[in-house]
Amino acid sequence: MCGIMGYSGPRPPLPLLVSGLERLEYRGYDSSGVAFFNATGAIDVLRAAGKVSVLKERVGSLEGHPGAAIGHIRWATHGAATVENAHPHKSGPIALVHNGIIENEQILRERLKAEGVLFQSETDTEVLAHLIRLEYERSGEFAESVRRALALVEGSYALAILCQDEPADLIAVRQGPPLLLGMGEGESFVASDIPAFLHFTRQVYAFRSGEIGLIRHGDVRVGEISSPSSSWKSPVAQTISWDPFFAEKGTYRHFMEKEIFEGSRALMDTLADRIVPWKTLPELAPFGPFPPPSLTFVACGTSWHAALLGRYFMESMGIPSAVEIASEFRYRPLLLPGGSWVVGISQSGETADTLGALELARKAGCRTLGISNVPGSSLERETDLCLLTHAGPEIGVASTKAFQSQVALLMLLSLALSGAEPETEKLESLIRSPHRLEMFLETMSSERFDQAVERLRQSHLVMFAGRGLDYPLSLEGALKFKEITYRPADGYPGGELKHGPIALVEPGVTVIAPMVDSNLRQKEISNLREIRARGGYVLAIGPSIPENQRGIWYDDRIDLPEVPVWSGVFQAAAVLQYLAYRVAVALGNDVDQPRNLAKSVTVE
Ligand code: AGP
Repeated sequence: MCGIMGYSGPRPPLPLLVSGLERLEYRGYDSSGVAFFNATGAIDVLRAAGKVSVLKERVGSLEGHPGAAIGHIRWATHGAATVENAHPHKSGPIALVHNGIIENEQILRERLKAEGVLFQSETDTEVLAHLIRLEYERSGEFAESVRRALALVEGSYALAILCQDEPADLIAVRQGPPLLLGMGEGESFVASDIPAFLHFTRQVYAFRSGEIGLIRHGDVRVGEISSPSSSWKSPVAQTISWDPFFAEKGTYRHFMEKEIFEGSRALMDTLADRIVPWKTLPELAPFGPFPPPSLTFVACGTSWHAALLGRYFMESMGIPSAVEIASEFRYRPLLLPGGSWVVGISQSGETADTLGALELARKAGCRTLGISNVPGSSLERETDLCLLTHAGPEIGVASTKAFQSQVALLMLLSLALSGAEPETEKLESLIRSPHRLEMFLETMSSERFDQAVERLRQSHLVMFAGRGLDYPLSLEGALKFKEITYRPADGYPGGELKHGPIALVEPGVTVIAPMVDSNLRQKEISNLREIRARGGYVLAIGPSIPENQRGIWYDDRIDLPEVPVWSGVFQAAAVLQYLAYRVAVALGNDVDQPRNLAKSVTVE
């Protein structure tokens, strides 16, 4: 939900701001803008509706004056995606960019109007610019005016702020949404996510909620928004191991395509050093005893689907577990006994509902465990223990490699929590999964999918159905499909079809059936026969699907290699991701930045 970038240092800021915004564009793409100092020492603002490419054209060969500068990409909440509503917003000597929502905006707006302030936009952000400007006119002190103004504000915000009278200074504030500081030699960056500045520095400090940073080139001090200035301290950076290559498309057309094919590497990096003789996940040891008295997963979207798979893994190891959609869980009475484990799964580690659900659990005396892909994320900081998936930065809005790494970590977690010696078969299957997936991805050529892609392109409805492990895979397949093709798609447990959804089946409807869970294959086949009997077209995805059954219970198939189920899950997921990708490309959609979506949902 919106992306912020700021810079203070000796380089001309505009080229690096624009390229940083391009890397943050997955967070929103309704409009964008930059504020920078010109040669006369005044702040100029350039804004554009639409994607960063439009802003880039407006910026042209302008470089901006070295010093401080800020930029923004917007996912509209208050006000349409117009130039007027684009950030930065400026009031007198103050210019700022904002990610978040100001909850008491209406009250503040009315108060400011009564003081004679004229508003230029419909955004809640503009209120902040005027408030800070008024405080600055009273105190003449930049940081103090920010603090005083924010004392009047309710809501969530990450901010980067400039002041015309302090051309080298950048103020960064975090109250809720993520904000990272990149610490270079004699220069500093702030951004909503690490890839924005990964090409310049890997030294990263994640602002805590409630912190304010005063940044002048390489000199950074951090304090509490609500405390007096005596509490300033120097931030301690952590080194991020991510390779800047991750943030580049390379030879691929889209980040999503690249990230699907990075699935095997994501698995390898996630599992590395976490399987030692007779033990899995050694970092979990201090969190014992195992198994926990009760275990509930909370997550949203794709991460919720990973959690649903996680429940099957846990149950196969004899560990009872529950799965909850975070946005529902957090507003229901919490009836878990103290000491229960609540496990939050989030690629970004910043999803507001998942963090809210964990906060509720913590307050109720539960132990909280996080599974996140982003080092330094809120999830990492706010849970008792956080396990990192090491998928590397995921730029495509549709989650792919992060899902694969979450699933691998959940397999590992189920083995670790059982407290027993890991079952050799499952452990071996997991150890071999990255290589097996790598081999499989090499066979996933585009021609192999042409027929299926054409069929799906022509289908007016696509349903995904599976049983056992194939049910969460079906949900995930359907989510991937609808978010980037914009075509109606839904996932169902195979056994549920005849309780209602089968009414949708007619010629022109395709049912995609992942079939890696061999235990339930015969039952799934019966469900698929019922689809075909009603004119539906069945595309089966699995190992050992006999050719002589074509026309009996399936119409077309995508073969998976004969591998143990735990390895098959990754291969089926890759096929579902790639099918959605190929259909979206065939439809001419913007797969990396699908309409209406943003990668990190940092507001409720
Ligand atoms: C995935 O393709 C989606 N874009 C979305 O459902 C995502 O998984 C969800 O918003 C949760 O994000 P998180 O994993 O960062 O918490």
